[in-house]
Amino acid sequence: MFKLNENYLKLRGSYLFSTIAKKVASYSADNPDKELIRLGIGDVTRPLTPTVIHALHAAVDEMAAAETFRGYAPDLGYEFLRKAIAEHDFAGRGVSISPDEIFVSDGAKCDSGNIQEIFSADSKIAVCDPVYPVYVDTNVMAGRTGVFDETKEQWGDVIYMPCTAENNFTPALPEEVPDIIYLCSPNNPTGSALKKDALQQWVDYANKHGSVIIFDAAYEAYISEDDVPHSIYECTGAESCAIEIRSFSKNAGFTGVRLGYTVVPKALKASDGTALHSLWARRHGTKYNGAPYIQQRAGEAVYTKEGQEEVRALVSWYMENARLILDGLKEKGFEVSGGVNAPYIWLKTPNNMTSWEFFDYLLEKAGIVGTPGSGFGPSGEGYFRLTAFGSRENTVRAVERFKAL
Ligand code: MLT
Repeated sequence: MFKLNENYLKLRGSYLFSTIAKKVASYSADNPDKELIRLGIGDVTRPLTPTVIHALHAAVDEMAAAETFRGYAPDLGYEFLRKAIAEHDFAGRGVSISPDEIFVSDGAKCDSGNIQEIFSADSKIAVCDPVYPVYVDTNVMAGRTGVFDETKEQWGDVIYMPCTAENNFTPALPEEVPDIIYLCSPNNPTGSALKKDALQQWVDYANKHGSVIIFDAAYEAYISEDDVPHSIYECTGAESCAIEIRSFSKNAGFTGVRLGYTVVPKALKASDGTALHSLWARRHGTKYNGAPYIQQRAGEAVYTKEGQEEVRALVSWYMENARLILDGLKEKGFEVSGGVNAPYIWLKTPNNMTSWEFFDYLLEKAGIVGTPGSGFGPSGEGYFRLTAFGSRENTVRAVERFKAL
């Protein structure tokens, strides 16, 4: 009889957003007349922009003619997109990343989950707490997280870096040195962002101790403050210690289109001198056939002048939602943060409710779906996340419902 990978059997419950989806589906089945406002998963609601739509159509038309038809994409990405990324996301910020250090993929979720594969099974990982649950879950799948401690609600071998109201939701450098450090800035779920000097400290720490930083910058387009870096490579020495992951989902509305990329600089080497770049290329080439041509042309369009203007407008539109939620909840007396450099609002649950108690309460009393903070890590207990990605109408109505609680 076959046996399963025991690491997978250690996973606790289903994935956070699947758990929420199941709960909401069952609630809706029991309450068919109740109209819900969904501010849970960070999924965009605005349509794709005209420039992107045009590029998609044009790429589909190319597929109709034998001369311009495309089959398998290059596994690391088309040159046209890698060049556009290098020029706009990096050179435009005074950062030197070459196109062949960019690995195009179908999104930041897969990359942030898969990247751990190239590291030793006994690597010690450090994560912000709370943070995007994919990091810990995928390390559990890889057998790297030890035994779950029921009393602390955390995995034994993981270094949790509490991000609480006391430290303004930013992690402190850990005393115990990790091999792999996951940083997500702007952070999902708290919305906090690392300032330049704080991020430089992490880069210096990683270089000093021989750790690697996996920097998830999926929300960089939402940064509004000048002293918050958009890329870790804005910090001196980051090319020898950091991998950066980016997404087209949240800035250009590609959650359903699927496109992202990961930067692995050639200067990033393991202790034995092996370049991570060649290892990730080997992995990518073996397990991945490349993001589709049509999507990559759409991604290229995001970097045109019109594309950039449209993306900025899209981001501002969502950030107006964030402002409405922040202001409305503050007025109602909630303790809130985030929403300035990120499309997420992080709130303290009222009356010492647990995160899941508040989830049920909000669903029942206001018909609003949010995300329980404890799903992002033990320090998220007693907190709750709302997304600014809803429609304007639903956002306004949600704030009214909050006020009426
Ligand atoms: C979230 O809601 O945290 C994100 O949408 C999940 C994701 O990007 O995969």
